[in-house]
Amino acid sequence: DTWPKDVGILDLEVYFPAQYVDQTDLEKYNNVEAGKYTVGLGQTQMGFCSVQEDINSLCLTVVQRLMERTRLPWDSVGRLEVGTETIIDKSKAVKTVLMELFQDSGNTDIEGIDTTNACYGGTASLFNAANWMESSYWDGRYALVVCGDIAVYPNGNARPTGGAGAVAMLIGPNAPLALEQGLRGTHMENAYDFYKPNLASEYPLVDGKLSIQCYFRALDKCYASYRRKIQNQWKQDGVDRPFTLDDIQYMIFHTPFCKMVQKSLGRLMFSDFLSSSSDTRNTSYKGLEAFRNLKLEDTYTNKDVDKALLKASLDTFNKKTRASLYLSTHNGNMYTSSLYGCLASLLAHHSAQDLAGSRIGAFSYGSGLAASLFSFRVSKDASPGSPLEKLVSSVSDLPQRLASRRRMSPEEFTEVMNQREQFYHKSNFSPPGDINNLFPGTWYLERVDEMHRRKYARRP
Ligand code: HMG
Repeated sequence: DTWPKDVGILDLEVYFPAQYVDQTDLEKYNNVEAGKYTVGLGQTQMGFCSVQEDINSLCLTVVQRLMERTRLPWDSVGRLEVGTETIIDKSKAVKTVLMELFQDSGNTDIEGIDTTNACYGGTASLFNAANWMESSYWDGRYALVVCGDIAVYPNGNARPTGGAGAVAMLIGPNAPLALEQGLRGTHMENAYDFYKPNLASEYPLVDGKLSIQCYFRALDKCYASYRRKIQNQWKQDGVDRPFTLDDIQYMIFHTPFCKMVQKSLGRLMFSDFLSSSSDTRNTSYKGLEAFRNLKLEDTYTNKDVDKALLKASLDTFNKKTRASLYLSTHNGNMYTSSLYGCLASLLAHHSAQDLAGSRIGAFSYGSGLAASLFSFRVSKDASPGSPLEKLVSSVSDLPQRLASRRRMSPEEFTEVMNQREQFYHKSNFSPPGDINNLFPGTWYLERVDEMHRRKYARRP
């Protein structure tokens, strides 16, 4: 009872690169069938960074933007966590670079460092920040959770599932998006679906088909334990009924590519269907009866089940999830920040009134693997000037900002990828490129000296 009330997200800032490549252009350039990336993966554009940007600069930019917009004093932050899998130094945390921003304020009493496990690091950071706030170590100040990544793949089938970006979240009590206490369904196991053993390269090793199965299995397991936990909570309050998707008004997912998320929402419906008794089954399970004797774990690659689920869940997808995919469709996979970019997109496409009082379910997945399904409770107060209304209006320019990026050709994109390879882990260079191609106010890498010390500057 001494815990602070409604710990969660007070504010959120999104950063993505100022340039992108169009997926239809990429289909032509890569000589694949039209529709393979745009329909098959559900992707329309992909953001990418030049050599002038790295994980430190992305995180510097997003934190600076959040602090400037909210006008919070730099000494009001008592914890700063970074979730990333874009590792440019095996020892020195991105967090230490971010301390540069706090220098003038004199605030050095800031806990937290980096957390890494593929795309899950941002969620682990969010949990750490909330745990701190609900502990004896909390000193009343805010926490910042920063997640960011540069997702790049070698030439081949995985390359169109790249992307880049960062999200910074201000965490505190009385939040318009409060983490629901006691409700985290987690699944972790040892898998080699996507990993980065090659220290001389920015690229991962990826077993694409296996990664999809791992993601689906983790989703099924997390949903089952989330459901068990919420039903137990309900029982203590005297409510004894099954939890279903109907109890979640909006559902967001880690988004490697958008088609995967549409299938994932279908899988949640399938979980509900398989655990329901035939007399309680409602009409939304139309077309699924033929699969009632299957086990969840036998259906990861079953195309008939896929098709039936996409059809049965289409309305639900349109209502609960589609709006959250806006940034992912136009910018691609942002790894640790993907899920939180989905949250921003959801907020950008709904009014505070629409969202007020709802539950937002969130599924976080990081290869290797670590996954959790958890939820936010949106505050009921959507009045003008309320924290919820302010949060929603602060992300409402997302579509405009995306539309203001520069479209680059696949040739230019490939050239930049080659440059990234060429300069990866090099010392004693100043990155080529024109800083005027970055959004105003963006931090960029100015120089890497002969001792691999990195120096950053900010575009006016
Ligand atoms: P691929 O070889 O392009 O796969 O690789 P595909 O040939 O099966 O095609 C994909 C879909 O496009 C299929 O749809 C095709 O039918 C369809 P499905 O049958 O599966 O529904 N298709 C078309 N549709 C319309 N018109 C056409 C057409 N052609 C084909 N002309 C793969 C795809 C995702 C495997 C690859 O891009 C890859 O390896 N990506 C990276 C790994 C990945 O994204 N995995 C996702 C789950 S793991 C995860 O989320 C973690 C991650 O974020 C990393 C982390 O945690 O840090 C990746």
